[in-house]
Amino acid sequence: MLNIAVLVSGGGTNLQALIDAQNRSEILGGRIAVVISSKAEAYALERAKKAGIPTETLIRKEYSTQEDYDAALLRILGRYQIGLIVLAGFMTIISDNVIRHYENKIINVHPSLIPSFCGAGFYGLRVHRAVLERGVKLTGATVHFVNEVCDGGPIILQKAVKVLEGDTPEILQRRVMEQAEWILLPKAVALFCEGKITVHNGKTKIREDSI
Ligand code: GAR
Repeated sequence: MLNIAVLVSGGGTNLQALIDAQNRSEILGGRIAVVISSKAEAYALERAKKAGIPTETLIRKEYSTQEDYDAALLRILGRYQIGLIVLAGFMTIISDNVIRHYENKIINVHPSLIPSFCGAGFYGLRVHRAVLERGVKLTGATVHFVNEVCDGGPIILQKAVKVLEGDTPEILQRRVMEQAEWILLPKAVALFCEGKITVHNGKTKIREDSI
């Protein structure tokens, strides 16, 4: 059984989607072992507690150096013998040092169709604001492995979502979550836990029988 760490910073609706999928026995071969939050007040922590999942809070500014912060994060991950890290709305940058320890074992959900509207500065509602400003007709979500390039790792799953007349960033964010993120993230985690994702030359291959 693979131990999964879910890293969160906010509302935790993607964490909830993972908990719900786990409760429906859709994530075979893995279980959420710990939820780690970058903010003490994140509602995601309440969701974890309600589901009986251990929680940890790790606040970047409480550590004077990146090395100290990394060491603390790696200690927690080691303590829970983590085999998969899921970034579910986690707003603290994961350093190259930690990424090297977990190569192709860190999954992120991003609320756009990468390579559009991604990279430094594109997170949360800012992504949806930029989508509306540009006037694209389709947006969506991407689940990808995390490497040293911000939002640049191998893409696992993507789903398109329509932009509609009258959308606000908030309305669009909700549609992208409902129609893409909450479906794709549990699916990608399940595929990973079943050993169905391989990476070659920066691209993923997924064993077809499962999609
Ligand atoms: C989600 O929309 C997620 O895709 C986004 O933050 C939100 C977190 O919501 N992540 C990023 O923008 C990362 N670049 P949640 O806390 O309700 O899951």
